[in-house]
Amino acid sequence: MTHHTKKRTGILISGRGTNMKALIEAAEARDYPAEIVVVVSNRADAGGLDIARGKGVATEVVPSKAFADRLEFERALADTLRPHALDLLCLAGFMRVLTPWFVEQWQGRMLNIHPSLLPLFPGTHTHERVLEAGLKTHGCTVHFVTPQLDAGPVIAQASIAVEPGDTPETLAARLLTFENRLYPEALAKVASGAVQYPGRADSS
Ligand code: GAR
Repeated sequence: MTHHTKKRTGILISGRGTNMKALIEAAEARDYPAEIVVVVSNRADAGGLDIARGKGVATEVVPSKAFADRLEFERALADTLRPHALDLLCLAGFMRVLTPWFVEQWQGRMLNIHPSLLPLFPGTHTHERVLEAGLKTHGCTVHFVTPQLDAGPVIAQASIAVEPGDTPETLAARLLTFENRLYPEALAKVASGAVQYPGRADSS
């Protein structure tokens, strides 16, 4: 039997944590190439923290509001992450923009999931903007994080049809189930080495 060393992976969240939960559950499989060793939230009231605790994953809170500025918050975040000796970091509904100082420490090792087919619709309110543009296709993207917001190399994407009568809420809810499937697949590709930064997702 071959022995694989699982990549030590942390997850940053701000909210309910459905993508975090999908990553934790995927990583419970024996042959999954990553293990989730810590979940960190910038909000003490993030629902995802209880889910992570319930699954026996270590949790930490670094309350972004408690720090004078972005850099002080990020220094505390880096201090919190360091003892966990992480190989990879996954942003999963983490709603703080990270500075180049932080991002550069994780170059090629930090992933994000974004609710649009990047490079379309970086930023927020993606579902509203897809509907306003009259598009018939929407989707989600897992990408490597680079200093420019939502602009790093794409690892994986999934697309869905926009249906007549869709609202931002119905679209977001339907897309979420695809996000929850896509993120574990994308993390596996990176953790196994099948996708390497800054390679393209189709270069397996
Ligand atoms: C997801 O839809 C994710 O794509 C989005 O927030 C939601 C988090 O849900 N992320 C962003 O908008 C990043 N800017 P979750 O907490 O259930 O994973």
